[in-house]
Amino acid sequence: MKEKVGYPWTTLPDFMFEHAAQGYAGHGTLCGVLGVCSCLVNLVVYDKEHAYAAIIDRMMWWYSEMEFPTERFDDISKSPKQVKAKAVTPLCHTSVSKWTLAAGAQVTSNEKYERCAKVAGEVVYTVVHYLNEYFEGRWKPAKWTPSKEITHCIECHGPESYQRYTNGLNHQQGHMECLACHTDHMTASLKK
Ligand code: HEC
Ligand code: HEC
Repeated sequence: MKEKVGYPWTTLPDFMFEHAAQGYAGHGTLCGVLGVCSCLVNLVVYDKEHAYAAIIDRMMWWYSEMEFPTERFDDISKSPKQVKAKAVTPLCHTSVSKWTLAAGAQVTSNEKYERCAKVAGEVVYTVVHYLNEYFEGRWKPAKWTPSKEITHCIECHGPESYQRYTNGLNHQQGHMECLACHTDHMTASLKK
């Protein structure tokens, strides 16, 4: 972008996003590449209609369901054909911890750094693909809908409670899979 477009990309320092590694300074919050891509999606799409939202939301739930790392970069990797594990949420914490356990690797191992580099590459690849579709007018925003396991959670807790239950609370924010962290407190009879 610096070479082909120039301003404002020429104003961005090379190490601007270095802090995002390891879920932001090792805190294991949002997977860093998702944070960086979110920022870049907004910068690239930059419009008042908030077109960034559908692209970023789609990226987050795609990521959560992905089995990482993919084999796309195996040709240039010191650790090809690595064990794969589902990220579960957009959080560095689940994405990395599920993988280290599945692979029998430590978080400070070279294998883990390779794995995370491949995750970063795959996310960038996919987001660039979305953005090309967007600028070619082929992007159809996919609307998030809850999985069947959490549809009833959303109906009461939100976001955008469908108010199927009269006591819809609509006080929860987010599109993550609730059952990754919470148990289902509802009795079987109330579920449909
Ligand atoms: C029929 C509506 C309804 C459904 C469906 C529902 N909840 Fe709740 N949930 C409630 C109410 C009411 C409370 C009481 C807390 C309050 O007043 O905010 C609650 C409380 C909670 C709490 C707070 C801790 C607790 O157990 O009291 C969590 C977390 C929670 N729900 C998560 C979920 C998840 C996850 C699902 C889906 C698997 C779900 N809920 C489905 C209505 C519902
Ligand atoms: C990555 C883990 C995670 C996911 C995924 C998640 N939550 Fe939570 N949620 C938490 C934590 C941690 C708290 C704070 C719990 C506490 O204070 O006891 C919380 C709090 C809540 C509360 C308030 C509970 C209270 O005791 O006041 C509700 C309601 C809730 N979540 C519902 C949901 C619903 C519905 C979903 C799915 C759309 C969801 N959560 C997804 C981790 C998660």
